[in-house]
Amino acid sequence: MTPAAETQQVVSEGKQLYQQYNCTACHQIYGLGGYLGPELTTAYSDKNRGEAYMRAMLQAGGSRMPNFHFTSQQIDALIAYLKYVDTTATPIKD
Ligand code: HEC
Repeated sequence: MTPAAETQQVVSEGKQLYQQYNCTACHQIYGLGGYLGPELTTAYSDKNRGEAYMRAMLQAGGSRMPNFHFTSQQIDALIAYLKYVDTTATPIKD
């Protein structure tokens, strides 16, 4: 597989997990979803959140964020998906 095809595969795995675990019940992407948890569209590039913070949350949960006991591979896929979503939401700078 080419690196681009690999990325595409892991992003789509992450998207499937996002749907399967119903993250949307508590989180919004592109403004759609629940309001208990923070909006995730730009969480990856948000300097107060970012990849390390998101990983920690997916590994252990938070005070209200459930611990789903994901494998590291599942976490990688979810992060890849949320990273991808973030790139699609970044405004064009001039
Ligand atoms: C029951 C509601 C609920 C569900 C379901 C849920 N979350 Fe969360 N999530 C939260 C809350 C609330 C927080 C904020 C931290 C806290 O209060 O625990 C959070 C925080 C996060 C964060 C940290 C980033 C940030 O912006 O704070 C990420 C990443 C995240 N959730 C991803 C997910 C993913 C991916 C799923 C699905 C596998 C998911 N969550 C399912 C409630 C939920």
